Amino acid sequence: MDAILDRWTNLRDGAAWRGATRDVTEPLLHGPPPEEGRDLDPLLQEIAGDIMPLAGRIDHPRFLAFIPSSPTWASVLASFLVNGYNVFQGTWLESGGPSQIEVTVTDWFREWMGYPESGGGLFTSGGSAANLVAIVAAREAAGNPVRGTVYMSEQAHASVGRAARIAGIDPELLRAVPTDDSFRLCPRHLAAAVERDRAGGLEPFCLVANAGTTNTGSIDPLAELSDIARSEGLWYHVDAAYGGFAVLDPATRPLLDGIELSDSVTLDPHKWLFQPYETGCLIARDVSRLASAFRIMPDYLQDAEWGPSHVNFCDRGLQLTRTFRALRVWLSIHRYGLAAHRKEIARAIALARVAEARVRSEEELELLSPQSLGVVCFRYRGDGSVPRGSLDGLNRRIQKQIVNSGFAMMSSTRIRECFSLRFCVLNYRTTQEDLERTLDRIVAAGRRLCADHSDPAGPSRAEPGRRVPERARA
Ligand SMILES: Cc1ncc(COP(=O)(O)O)c(C=O)c1O
Repeated sequence: MDAILDRWTNLRDGAAWRGATRDVTEPLLHGPPPEEGRDLDPLLQEIAGDIMPLAGRIDHPRFLAFIPSSPTWASVLASFLVNGYNVFQGTWLESGGPSQIEVTVTDWFREWMGYPESGGGLFTSGGSAANLVAIVAAREAAGNPVRGTVYMSEQAHASVGRAARIAGIDPELLRAVPTDDSFRLCPRHLAAAVERDRAGGLEPFCLVANAGTTNTGSIDPLAELSDIARSEGLWYHVDAAYGGFAVLDPATRPLLDGIELSDSVTLDPHKWLFQPYETGCLIARDVSRLASAFRIMPDYLQDAEWGPSHVNFCDRGLQLTRTFRALRVWLSIHRYGLAAHRKEIARAIALARVAEARVRSEEELELLSPQSLGVVCFRYRGDGSVPRGSLDGLNRRIQKQIVNSGFAMMSSTRIRECFSLRFCVLNYRTTQEDLERTLDRIVAAGRRLCADHSDPAGPSRAEPGRRVPERARA
């Protein structure tokens, strides 16, 4: 508890990222299992001093990479409690109280998504697992077609394609539908693809849309896509792992119109509901569809059969033994109130807007994809004298400098074939000043690199830092 408090208190002052290559970590941390135990104190010192610092500080206010995560204190406490109580959240028999809380919290989510009372779901390890559960449920609902095709956007998260592969769908039957100028799945292309496949004797059965892509934060035209899904008889899944909780912000809710028309939705509370890893969730419009795909009842579990109102969560997904994740959300929302969570989601969106405005106003920066939810993509382009062909290399080097300095953690992506810097703002600790100062450093790094090098393209890929950090605790 002391180590965590120490870390949380000094988070802003420390580096946003410290990595280390294997040749550093192996001599430092590898070793055989000791036959005899040791005192806990030095072990905890070792963990806090040698192991944990060699990582991204995902909850650092200037960790703007990938999709950050910044759990609330209450949610961390809930995780600690649940581990101490070692709750088995697979059957009602073994966890009546915890199961009731999972029913309650998934019911909150059901209402937020606008689903009818027939809806419900389960907590999962994350969005990848939730997408897999959805695709398996969709395949089952369609009668497990041998030549079944799945449609998703070309911007879909990689976990969707992987889920389809795990579910036994031939990669040849997976369609990545082109997107429009705003990276939104194009309904016209979708309709054409479905028609083509039917004409070719295939059996379209599932559409996966995005409510917040990882790359740019784009939101597919959810209502329009639901029309196609309904008329074509497709299971309509929305991957809202990143953006789903933006429904809590009344100003953003209209952008997600149509999510309530889907058959299932992936949510990741460990992203924008401020929960620790692994807190994912799947909610289905008709929760009985999950049981149709996943229910088990071997002889040795017959005592756990208490009837339909006593939910055995093992019947809704992959896991029999599962932990009690719902308590994290329950405690967080009871402790701080829903309004506080809502406010932080809205604040992150507003900050991303500020970052976009700054990029637009800065002559040397170029906006590659405007703010959508908390994501903004851009690059440094200099004063116009940098050849366009050198911009990828230049921006790679800028990213590397910022990340290795520890000041901020930024990840990159590719936008229309261009190497792009990317901010994803999510953390309740992040301030406007954090973003402004990071952008100042990006511009300064760009200027320095342009001044220092006749060939700003430099090395071709960012390398992880090799420095071993100072011990966090003496
Ligand atoms: C849109 C989207 N879907 C799915 C996932 C996978 O979620 P997880 O990493 O929780 O398995 C992510 C992760 O970033 C995501 O952004």
